[in-house]
Amino acid sequence: MDPIRNPYAPGAGQRPPELAGRDRELEVFEVVLERVARGRPERSLLLTGLRGVGKTVLLNTMRSQAISRLWGTGKIEARPDQSLRRPVAAALHMAVRELAPHHRAPVRVEEFLSVLKAFALRSPAGGAGVAGRAGVRAKLRDRWQPGIDVPAASGRADSGDIEIDLVELFTDAASVATDVGTGIALFIDEMQDLTSEDVSALCAACHELSQTGSPLIVVGAGLPHLPAVLSASKSYSERLFRYQRIDRLDRIAADQALCAPAAREGVEYQAKALDALYEASGGYPYFVQAYGKATWDHAPASPVTAADVRVAAPEAEAELAVGFFGSRYERATPAEREYMRTMADVGGADAADGAVATAEIAKSLGRKPASLSPARDALIKKGLIYSGERGTVAFTVPHFGRYLRTQPAADG
Ligand SMILES: Nc1ncnc2c1ncn2[C@@H]1O[C@H](COP(=O)(O)OP(=O)(O)OP(=O)(O)O)[C@@H](O)[C@H]1O
Ligand SMILES: [Mg+2]
Repeated sequence: MDPIRNPYAPGAGQRPPELAGRDRELEVFEVVLERVARGRPERSLLLTGLRGVGKTVLLNTMRSQAISRLWGTGKIEARPDQSLRRPVAAALHMAVRELAPHHRAPVRVEEFLSVLKAFALRSPAGGAGVAGRAGVRAKLRDRWQPGIDVPAASGRADSGDIEIDLVELFTDAASVATDVGTGIALFIDEMQDLTSEDVSALCAACHELSQTGSPLIVVGAGLPHLPAVLSASKSYSERLFRYQRIDRLDRIAADQALCAPAAREGVEYQAKALDALYEASGGYPYFVQAYGKATWDHAPASPVTAADVRVAAPEAEAELAVGFFGSRYERATPAEREYMRTMADVGGADAADGAVATAEIAKSLGRKPASLSPARDALIKKGLIYSGERGTVAFTVPHFGRYLRTQPAADG
């Protein structure tokens, strides 16, 4: 069928033509927004799940929900080894700019912006304050401008201790939102990549805000081990956040993700075609889009048949092998690849890519478990595997084990 009208959208953070199966999460968030705006106690929301289940898309949709309620919003994507300070400053700048037109006292907004500027320009206190490097840092700092047209304040959110500074900054931002009668939502994607210092600071700030009923919430998204990352930093984090596991779509939702956009183009699926598509995708949103797209391109006409799906599947698989699996596999070193291959073998064909005991991997490789820790830790840092439970590891990418088992072993 006409590829130009193909509605499906496989791709990181790509808005799907139909956001299927997430009504419950969106309803929960509506309630959270309403409660927070009314000063009711509410926990921040964290979405966790494997690669490609639709965390980023859901985060973006929640952001739109907040904006439509006239909230101020900002979003950041955490990166390993990058401090939270500047991205948070930029995100809150954005959020307050969204609120400013509804604010009656521009002076209050300006006061906040000068605190924000001071926060943004502050480099970490103490730490590697060696003369030479400090000089370089100071030069870099001078060059970097947060783009805020007011002079920096002093004495608030500028201590250099990120925990103290975040609490003060969030409190002030929230009070601007209180004036307007709404709130501020800060969205953090890839949250498992925050440094432990920043995680700690963020937890402390959320803790403080929830106690005072200030209308600022953090909405995070990350891999399944995000709860473990947070509780390693602050033991009370489990009570601080409401975790929502974002999973594959059930059959009804997966069918809806395929059928609703097709119907808008006057295209239908035979029931057997939908059976075949669900079997191929396992309900994982990224795969739903990928198989849907290839099938559309191959099918000669509506209704789409199971035979069309069979013809198209190899092409979808080839594209996934390059774009979804291969690009990730390539990030691993030879030792890390060996580790993952062994993981895939030990996991076995019907283990549904579940968790594998690290001791089993070591046994299979004939190595001491400790000697494999560097490979395991590096793979966790690269976001390719995670350890949900002590002594086990699992792939963050659905069907990754299956993919590895089909790859020739020779390429290391
Ligand atoms: N509810 C949904 N219904 C249909 N398609 C969806 C849904 N959610 C996400 N998708 C599609 O799935 C793909 C992956 O979405 P997204 O990038 O948000 O996943 P993610 O969980 O953030 O992945 P990663 O961990 O790699 O960042 C996109 O192509 C998107 O269009
Ligand atoms: Mg994402």
